[in-house]
Amino acid sequence: MSEKKFELTCLETGKKSTAEVRSGTLGPSVLSIASLPKEHGLFAFDPGFMATASCESKITFIDGEAGVLLYRGIPIEQLAEKSSFLEVAYLLVNGELPTAEQLAEFTHAIQYHTMINESLLRFFNGFQYNAHPMAMLSGVVASLAAFYHDSMDINNPRHREIFAHRIIAKIPTIAAAAYKHALGQPFIYPRNDLDYCANLLHMFFAVPCEPYEVDPVSAQALDLLFILHADHEQNASTSTVRLAGSTGANPYAAISAGISALWGPAHGGANEAVLAMLEQIGTVENVPKFIARAKDRNDPFRLMGFGHRVYKNYDPRATIIRAMCHKVLAKLGKSDNPLFELALRLEEIALKDEYFVERRLYPNVDFYSGIIYSAIGIPQSMFTVMFAIARTVGWVAHWQEMISDPTMKIGRPRQLYTGPTQRDYVEIDKR
Ligand code: ACO
Repeated sequence: MSEKKFELTCLETGKKSTAEVRSGTLGPSVLSIASLPKEHGLFAFDPGFMATASCESKITFIDGEAGVLLYRGIPIEQLAEKSSFLEVAYLLVNGELPTAEQLAEFTHAIQYHTMINESLLRFFNGFQYNAHPMAMLSGVVASLAAFYHDSMDINNPRHREIFAHRIIAKIPTIAAAAYKHALGQPFIYPRNDLDYCANLLHMFFAVPCEPYEVDPVSAQALDLLFILHADHEQNASTSTVRLAGSTGANPYAAISAGISALWGPAHGGANEAVLAMLEQIGTVENVPKFIARAKDRNDPFRLMGFGHRVYKNYDPRATIIRAMCHKVLAKLGKSDNPLFELALRLEEIALKDEYFVERRLYPNVDFYSGIIYSAIGIPQSMFTVMFAIARTVGWVAHWQEMISDPTMKIGRPRQLYTGPTQRDYVEIDKR
């Protein structure tokens, strides 16, 4: 994989050294700088990882210029059209599409791990009814580690597989428990005869006092959204999972760290923020006022669901979700959804505006996803939780890839220190 060499010269001392350029199968090559400290006494400085590849990975590829997203080499458009969430989960975690037999086995393993320990369920009583569900989700997921001492040897491949099945199976159950707790409704146990997303809707919306039938349109829409959200290479939450996992911490703790990172409005929290923003804008007439605010450097307001660190073109997931909005809203008899109309108009105006054109700011995955979640009855406060359920699959795949790599090292960045130089302690009466 190493092709070229790069020569680095210190212009002050004239000292030369070579750095290896490594090429992957797709995308830009990287300059390997691991020898910089030894050879030049220097570290690379790159806040926000604007120019840094943090690891080697075989899972997901993004071409941000062309708007391409591949899971294990397969275009997201093909997976969205032909696959299912659990098949995509298998692909991401295991590297290949499953045979019919492998898929049946995997589905069975997920469907029969859906229950959570009753003691874990009681944790929810300790939360305020108005606790944010992401707070409950990260806390309870981390607590799973307290229940599975017998299968948490990270160096044992079978233990890692059991963990993968457990977390993918149980995270919808935990999410539903958080939702029911906020509503003050009784927890609804999972139904293993239902598929992944139908079971999730059942746990969310069924009540003990009347029959509940899952709407197949809603279950299908959710399955598609989950496929689109399942992985996105080294984003902030996945990098957090890798960093936490690199210490040898148990995988439930690493996933919980990922959930916390996802929560922020610059990342997964954006889907919740988009709907809040659309409601705040209210009508098409107000769009220019909010566009002007988004462009104003002195105003912290940003167009939520717009812009991406990697995509400098239309996010391919947003294209799929926008088309899906039309279909799902029509099938649910909600075609006249005013927020969708507003979102379409906002996109149209922004994409013609010089500010957004110049900076290549396009709608990202979160711009339209909340409209579908809303249409199927998921409340705004649960949007980021939905994202977390889907992204758990990507986190698991990345954690597995990292842990099974024999050359793995603890993630430990360095810093440029700009604090005080060494000075003496001053006694309190002399300050
Ligand atoms: N609205 C208005 N201006 C924006 C926006 C936006 N949504 N996004 C970026 N810009 C502007 C910035 O002000 C900056 O302008 P400048 O060059 O004049 O200073 C320029 O575009 C570059 O923006 P950065 O913040 O430097 O880009 P970065 O790659 O660091 O950030 C991010 C990417 C966080 C996604 C940003 O575009 C943003 O905040 N978007 C809104 C939040 C959002 O939708 N997040 C979800 C991302 S997708 C996901 O995580 C699932």
